Amino acid sequence: MGEQALAAIILAAGQGTRMKSDLHKVLHPVAGLPMLHHLLESLTAAGAARQVVVVGARREQVEASVAPRGVEIAHQAEQLGTAHAALQAKAALADFDGIAIICFGDTPFLTPETILKLKERLLAGDAPRVAVLGFVPEDAKAYGRIIADDSGNIAKMVEFKDASAEERAVRLCNSGVTAVRTSDLWPLLERVGNDNAAGEYYLPDIVMLALADGDRAVVVETDPDELIGINSRAELAEAESIWQARRRAQAMAEGATLIAPDTVWFAHDTVIGRDVVIQPNVVFGPGVTIADNVVIRAFCEIVGTTIADGCIVGPFTRLRPGTEMQQGSRVGNFVEVKNAVLGAGAKANHLTYLGDATVGANANIGAGTITCNYDGYFKYQTVIGDNAFIGSNSALIAPVKIGRDAIVAAGSAVSRDVADGELRMVRAEQLVKPGWADRFHDAMRKKKREGK
Ligand code: UD1
Ligand code: MG
Repeated sequence: MGEQALAAIILAAGQGTRMKSDLHKVLHPVAGLPMLHHLLESLTAAGAARQVVVVGARREQVEASVAPRGVEIAHQAEQLGTAHAALQAKAALADFDGIAIICFGDTPFLTPETILKLKERLLAGDAPRVAVLGFVPEDAKAYGRIIADDSGNIAKMVEFKDASAEERAVRLCNSGVTAVRTSDLWPLLERVGNDNAAGEYYLPDIVMLALADGDRAVVVETDPDELIGINSRAELAEAESIWQARRRAQAMAEGATLIAPDTVWFAHDTVIGRDVVIQPNVVFGPGVTIADNVVIRAFCEIVGTTIADGCIVGPFTRLRPGTEMQQGSRVGNFVEVKNAVLGAGAKANHLTYLGDATVGANANIGAGTITCNYDGYFKYQTVIGDNAFIGSNSALIAPVKIGRDAIVAAGSAVSRDVADGELRMVRAEQLVKPGWADRFHDAMRKKKREGK
């Protein structure tokens, strides 16, 4: 029974005017991932192989964002209500026969477990025709209300605008998430009218139609935190904070030490090993994987980076996309790394930029080393061999290779390859004048005393 195919219909045709944004509301990111994608990932995890997003304005933005996921798009030209929106998915799902889960694009935290629970409830022995996800929020605001008995059998669903005072006092609210067989869904949606306070085609009316047919409709209750809707920037920030709080708790539960959890910001896909210590004020962008026994010291920004076992990062380090730190390597304060590999045990501890570079194992990159990787038109590679020593304040002008065990003298501007084992010094010969400064000071002081 549980093997029924699952399709999702995600409603996202609303204007989202309260965001005051040119970006479609459902594309605003939470933890670096558009909120719509959080929902799509949960739906995929729940086994919804087919997914149709219903969009209106800014359709092209949503289309571009979901294209790589193989999600289908349906268009609702006019926003006539949630039932009308769901019906727009009919053509896309014409060849689909199974269970449809209808949900809202601005409710990103719905979990796969809850989706499956709702599906299972629809398939239960008492054969309900519609299963609705309900919740009891602290403030029931203007949510639609569900009037149900203690076993979750629904007697009525009513929108706030249409509800009596008595119905408004009910605390069980409609999340909008609804499970129904597609063979039931389309005929039910086609029967929904718009004779109500809003003049809209209400999705919850399919429940009323099922009940009128003498069928059963049921509610499954879930945690309100899962159903927070995002309509404004303030709610977006609140959603971010809820997501981060959960992720921090998970990181600690899995064996990472966060000294000040509230100051660490994860991305949706951050991977962290065991016995990792993350000091205060660290921000992760997308694409970061950290192995075991890594220390991230305070005030770092890390994006698109892989960090192997035993590395030390920071404080005040910026690791940009394409950074790979191999085992036990270190980067320290005011070091920026982009598209570069640091070999095992290599060190760049102070004031350095490494871009488009490969640094060999155990190489030492002195303070103030800069890879000059860009000529204003193109980017070039710097390759540094194993055990090489780059003296402080060196400019490595790419494309350039520094051989293994080579030493680059401090202050060098290296524009030609350095052979294995070579010493390269690129700076002016030193002028040495013993006593010159003493003589200069004596002469000048005398001059000043004599008033020129
Ligand atoms: C809806 C429910 C309400 C529920 C609440 C939960 C209806 C009639 N009401 O109310 O019972 O408590 O959600 O948050 O379903 N949309 C379209 N096309 C439309 C209208 C809406 O795609 O024509 C989309 C919106 O983009 C949004 C979702 O449907 O993602 C819900 O629409 P919204 O206007 O927010 O409905 P509510 O009034 O909040
Ligand atoms: Mg809403």
